[in-house]
Amino acid sequence: MNLNQHPSEIQGVSLESIAREFGLPLYVYDGEKIVSQIRSIQEAFSDVPLKIKYATKALSNISILKLIRNAGAGIDAVSIEEVKLGIMAGFDPVEIMYTPSGVSFSEIEEAVKLGVMVNLDSIPLMKQFGKQYGNQVPACIRINPHILAGGNAKISVGHKHSKFGISIEQLPEIIATVAAYDLNIAGLHVHTGSDILDAEIFLRGANVLFEAAKNFPDLRFIDCGGGFKVAYKAGDPATDIREVGDKVSKAFQDFCKEYGRSLELWLEPGKFLVSEAGYFLVEANVVKETPTITFVGVDSGLNHLIRPMLYDAYHDVYNLSNPKGGNQSYHVVGYICETDTLAADRVLPEVRQGDILVIKNAGAYGFSMASNYNSRLRPAEVLVWNGKAHLIRKRESFEDLVKNQVQLEF
Ligand code: LLP
Repeated sequence: MNLNQHPSEIQGVSLESIAREFGLPLYVYDGEKIVSQIRSIQEAFSDVPLKIKYATKALSNISILKLIRNAGAGIDAVSIEEVKLGIMAGFDPVEIMYTPSGVSFSEIEEAVKLGVMVNLDSIPLMKQFGKQYGNQVPACIRINPHILAGGNAKISVGHKHSKFGISIEQLPEIIATVAAYDLNIAGLHVHTGSDILDAEIFLRGANVLFEAAKNFPDLRFIDCGGGFKVAYKAGDPATDIREVGDKVSKAFQDFCKEYGRSLELWLEPGKFLVSEAGYFLVEANVVKETPTITFVGVDSGLNHLIRPMLYDAYHDVYNLSNPKGGNQSYHVVGYICETDTLAADRVLPEVRQGDILVIKNAGAYGFSMASNYNSRLRPAEVLVWNGKAHLIRKRESFEDLVKNQVQLEF
């Protein structure tokens, strides 16, 4: 077994000891991996004035946000709550981009009051923003570039029929609205989707913005969004970040030179920064043979990791407790009263009751999409940093589950 592929320790701390100390199920994050992913983007784009705005929604624990701030990135937030988490984590509001989709105007006002840049996602919002603030508050415009890209339909958001952004075909109306309301447009933004492998897609998105940018003389930045694909198993291809860096940086430099602009280039990676840094540790409660399938039932399910159910996402699984056992094929399933298959047809070293299984690529959209379905409690989170495991979120308790319920007496 390749221990690099299936680590038994993180930064020298054994996953078994972390499981013993903090209990299961448990999300464990490798802080060094997050920082090294940030560094690889910075290196790939070292020829341009780059700003990374981490997509908070991927993993929004405040300690993770602090770590990311410390590494020199800002954040992209999609709710006023994420904005507030960012401020709580110490981000200067000017380092926060607020990219909402169809929220109430009171949320927009709250963000402006907090000093955060708003990414305008519709023409009605541009008008309302213009009426309220005129040119007093700089804003960004989210363009829908009509590019179909992304790992699956649910995470493809830059195509013609997507709810996100303002269609590039409506550019004349965007320009007219900016003029009519004297809007102060500091940035243009695209985000075409998630799990995008092909560097050309990022270039196409950027080119749409460069073309549109000719109409906005006061622009300060171009935001090319996120969506870089990571590998979900051995041999799975990942976005070549250096290729994206080379292609987009060159086009960016050419644009700036040709039009005499001095702009910043912003990116909003989520998965790329945190997916591979996360390990979800669960315990095998039962190994159940049926006439057709051997199931491993674990002490978790779609309530803690919904990606396999929602997107048919593949997450690699390994047996931490019995790495040298004889191989068998299993369906790893959750305890939720739904068919919550976490991993189907996986060949694993023999799984015994009580074994710890590790689900990989659990850093992005794992805990942040967890719920209390079946009235289950959400797990704890641990960050390994400087060779030490730190609890960064306590396990939920039954009291947490009921604390907001108002009980009527009958
Ligand atoms: N910027 C914007 C405006 C976004 O909407 C997103 C993700 C990102 C950046 C970051 O994309 P990333 O680099 O993480 O691919 N829950 C799904 C992914 C949904 C992504 C939504 N928007 C999943 O687990 O695959």
